[in-house]
Amino acid sequence: MDFWELIKQRKSYRNFSSQPVEPDKIYKVLDAARLAPSWQNRQCWRFIVVKDKETIKKIGQLRPLNYNINFFLRHVPAIIVACANPKDSGHRHGIDYYLVDVSIAMEHLVLAATDLGLATCWIGAFDEQMIKDVLEIPKEIRVVALTPLGYAAEKPNIVDKISKIVAKGTNRKKIEEIAYFEKWQ
Ligand SMILES: Cc1cc2nc3c(=O)[nH]c(=O)nc-3n(C[C@H](O)[C@H](O)[C@H](O)COP(=O)(O)O)c2cc1C
Repeated sequence: MDFWELIKQRKSYRNFSSQPVEPDKIYKVLDAARLAPSWQNRQCWRFIVVKDKETIKKIGQLRPLNYNINFFLRHVPAIIVACANPKDSGHRHGIDYYLVDVSIAMEHLVLAATDLGLATCWIGAFDEQMIKDVLEIPKEIRVVALTPLGYAAEKPNIVDKISKIVAKGTNRKKIEEIAYFEKWQ
């Protein structure tokens, strides 16, 4: 896919069909993540591919807040859980670079998925300890993000309506609002 087309095509999907993801496509998106840049090329990221229906249901039932904003996860064909060991990356001036490393790799994965016709949604609202318990992730490992991976459902449903409210729209700021030239403002 043309680069600009790809950037425009990527969006957050919260309504998935039950069609499973082909194993070679899962490998391709993981390969895209693998090729991302990282602090001292240490590649601190680790990804867990979850396809087991019962485990997916458990993850979708976890309530990170008083309510479960990501309940749609219960019905997705696969979830990718992006983790890291912070000790395998660096930190400077109070910035932990494992978060940067994993985020770049995850965006590679998301864009590759888009190119393959797959749908994703960056998930940041989760209870880390609950996810760690379900997936038996060791204590020293941090969970940075999740994304469902699958094919978008063809017909919109209630999830689409709710997500429009939860995501607070998808409009973007103008370039003039986010970029300065030569100096701050
Ligand atoms: C750090 C981060 C955390 C997010 N967490 C969630 C989440 O928990 N649940 C969800 O449905 N969407 C989540 N999103 C998706 C955003 O709501 C979405 O990217 C934004 O509304 C713009 O819409 P678009 O991705 O369709 O362009 C998250 C995105 C980011 C970058």
